[in-house]
Amino acid sequence: MTAQSQPENVRLGEDGESVVLLDQTRLPGRVEYRTVRDLKEMVEAIRTLRVRGAPAIGVFAGFCLSALARQMERAGLDTPGLLRELDRKGKILVSSRPTAVNLSWAVERMMDRASGLAGGAPEELAAALEAESRAIRREDEEMCRAIAEHGLSLLKAGDGVLTHCNAGPLATSRYGTALGPILLAGERGIPLRVFADETRPLLQGARLTAWELARAGVEVTLICDNMASMVMKNGWVQACFVGCDRVAANGDAANKIGTFGVALLARHFGIPFYVAAPLSTIDPRTPDGAHIPIEERPDREVTHVGETRIVPEGVPVFNFAFDVTPADCITGIITEKGVLRAPYGPAIAAALKA
Ligand code: MRU
Repeated sequence: MTAQSQPENVRLGEDGESVVLLDQTRLPGRVEYRTVRDLKEMVEAIRTLRVRGAPAIGVFAGFCLSALARQMERAGLDTPGLLRELDRKGKILVSSRPTAVNLSWAVERMMDRASGLAGGAPEELAAALEAESRAIRREDEEMCRAIAEHGLSLLKAGDGVLTHCNAGPLATSRYGTALGPILLAGERGIPLRVFADETRPLLQGARLTAWELARAGVEVTLICDNMASMVMKNGWVQACFVGCDRVAANGDAANKIGTFGVALLARHFGIPFYVAAPLSTIDPRTPDGAHIPIEERPDREVTHVGETRIVPEGVPVFNFAFDVTPADCITGIITEKGVLRAPYGPAIAAALKA
């Protein structure tokens, strides 16, 4: 099993009017695909994390807009009407999760393409949007592959790598970001040992990262989130690789809640801490981490394990889905254009310009 043979997470339906997704809430127990056709189902899929991971949400949003445009064109809407509706639906899609910038990035890209064809026929518009959504997917795959190469250059055979949440093929296209270098190492026969934080409360590390890596034949050991200090202290971790939902212009990076804690531990133990992210995850319009919107999710995700309540009734709960790791805790940001180093402001500006 290689990155090439990991299951496809999202694709445009055969009819062009629907999107097929691998339901990540059912993993690892069941590999179950669902087809979504209307906006409500699309938003629900993002909100409930059936589709998750910043780049995957962006790719999914591209396919969603393509499918919606095709439906409207076949229903006989004229171009101005189609553009108006698409804009409205795109805004609703963007509002479904706030932190990952790839979602608004992909919707903006699709809308830019659409408005460039305001003078064309509805059929032309739908065809262009389908091509654009496939291009977003293809480019994401290429970016992940390049990130994998750059990231692998930072590792050597026998290294232990700690990761948090899931930034593998399920969260992107093919290789993933943080898991890309690890999967590539596996393909090349370079042995690594991965420690996967289970990632409370939704267990993306336990359910998804461990599943992807084990399928790929990578040596992976699951740890509870509060064991990271122990494995680092034991000298088993030579690098931390995490994904990212949004990098601000100054290099502050939002990722799954608990990531900042991992970065602080890594700093304490002198272990390099890398954030892997395509340039589409960098948001130059967000000046720093304080301006990144942090999603808060339902209490139930913390108060319950499955159907069982584990917290006394009435106890207040915080459920922040993400935290921000300050730029000064990040050893490098691994992008498709290479590894960016501090000072991140100029490094990011140059990478986005090139
Ligand atoms: O809430 P999730 O599961 O969507 O959170 C995902 C993460 O935090 C990932 O690390 C991030 O999106 C990067 S995915 C390449």
